[in-house]
Amino acid sequence: MAAAPGGRIVRLGHISDLHVSDRSRYPRNGFSARDCEKHSARLAKGLLDALREIGVDHLVVTGDLTFSGEPREFERAADLLRPFAEARKLTVVPGNHDLWTEDSVETARFLRALGPDGLGMKKAVPSYPHVVPLGDEAVLVALDSARWGEDPWTTPGRIGGDQLRAAREIVREHAKLGRAVVLAFHHHVVLPPERVPSDVHVARMPLADADQVVRLVADLPVAAVLHGHRHTAFRVDLPGAAGATPVLCAGSASRVADEPVRRARAYVYEIDRTGVRSVEALVSGSE
Ligand SMILES: [Fe+2]
Ligand SMILES: [Fe+2]
Repeated sequence: MAAAPGGRIVRLGHISDLHVSDRSRYPRNGFSARDCEKHSARLAKGLLDALREIGVDHLVVTGDLTFSGEPREFERAADLLRPFAEARKLTVVPGNHDLWTEDSVETARFLRALGPDGLGMKKAVPSYPHVVPLGDEAVLVALDSARWGEDPWTTPGRIGGDQLRAAREIVREHAKLGRAVVLAFHHHVVLPPERVPSDVHVARMPLADADQVVRLVADLPVAAVLHGHRHTAFRVDLPGAAGATPVLCAGSASRVADEPVRRARAYVYEIDRTGVRSVEALVSGSE
């Protein structure tokens, strides 16, 4: 029997912005204990359980795993994700909150506790781009857009020239082999037209080299760009070398909210060689 033109389907889960906190240690780092209550690790756990039940082939977490990069927060985030990490089905990138304090950066807390595969690194070394094959059909390219700055409230993200050049080569190489290439990092590339006013803080921390991502997508075939950072779910299509390229923000997997666009969620993408075939949202609290 002939294989379908797009080959086997791979199911990729996507969650973001868990913001796991250690409430008892606040106020600290510019946040109050009440700020922690906007997120619930229980909601994230429910979504992770649902993703395991579905049996996704792989899970990508696009940053902001912690509230302000505290050691106990990293431990808790690693515990939540452990089943996926141990099954070697996990890819993680850092977000700006994982590098919130100078201390968290100097001790390489993100890489030590989690790192690109969620298992943590004994010796923290630069690890991105992190390339993960998703069967023969697709490849996930994880990039680090999180940068530390004196004022974390206004520090933009940046992928940087080295990672962008490496990403171009990786995309070119895998596209030549007929694979769908999915890029993942923390910061948003483009803002959707329907701005959410309460998201103003995040709009002050854009991706400084977003234009380079737009250019990469225009020049080379990219199946999708996945990110988080903004705690609302949205999709924007960019003009791409291989047609419209979906740019998907997963919102927050732990957000306690009534607004539909803010409700805690996970995405499941069905991907084959031709690109993203379907996008399904698992929204917390909606059966
Ligand atoms: Fe976030
Ligand atoms: Fe963020």
